Amino acid sequence: MININLTGKRALVTGGNSGIGEAVVDALSDAGADVAVNYISHPDAAGAVVERVKAKGSRSVAIQADVSDETQVAGMFEKMDSALGGIDILVNNAGIDGKAGRAWELDTAHWKRVLDINLTGAFLMSHEALRRMVGQRSGVIINMTSVHEMIPWSGYAAYTASKAGLSMMTKTLAQEAAPFGVRVLSVAPGAIKTPINKSVWSDPGGLADLNRKIPMGRMGERAEIAGMVAVLASNVASYATGSSIFIDGGMTDFADFSHGG
Ligand code: BGC
Repeated sequence: MININLTGKRALVTGGNSGIGEAVVDALSDAGADVAVNYISHPDAAGAVVERVKAKGSRSVAIQADVSDETQVAGMFEKMDSALGGIDILVNNAGIDGKAGRAWELDTAHWKRVLDINLTGAFLMSHEALRRMVGQRSGVIINMTSVHEMIPWSGYAAYTASKAGLSMMTKTLAQEAAPFGVRVLSVAPGAIKTPINKSVWSDPGGLADLNRKIPMGRMGERAEIAGMVAVLASNVASYATGSSIFIDGGMTDFADFSHGG
């Protein structure tokens, strides 16, 4: 019988108070997990997510920390250990698109900031999580990449490089951790309606242009990503590790060839 049951599992979702991360917290707790909600700003939003999890009878705690800061990451895991008693599922979701601009137009500090949060942040988190997971011989790490781990995107060199790097980090950590019963995966969303791309979907012209890039002809909803994260974190996916699962309405399926050729 298929049963996505995460009861008793202790999860931590970075950037869990908005966008896809928030939906992931909801999905993991729907499946019975206890979930810690990491956030960097908007504590009120984090508090509301925590209350929703608790209302389901699961444990939850909000933890403020910057994933790109090693000391804060160490502190976050100490809080996780004392609040939930350890970690079974880590979702590295926190990330930024950064400013749009061609390479020669942006300063190098911009490059560094995007890489620090999207890539180094996920590494620092995985470093702490794997120490615990390898020791207990179980655990799952899911890294939120993007279709842009594969599709180049003019104006977003730092973002695309961070996501491609994260994808390769996933594959390498998966090799390292597999003998210890730990799985590492990437989920690669397409265009999902969240605050990160509001400027595009709130503009009718921008939305029409975006929809043309998607064979299914529409943006995705956050729950359409979050549900798959819950599946991958569960034993239903016990043989899956090292791969990127694209959930993108066909965006990586050569959308232009939906018409003509
Ligand atoms: C970006 C979104 C974008 C989507 C598809 C995501 O990684 O964060 O802003 O809409 O890719 O291009």
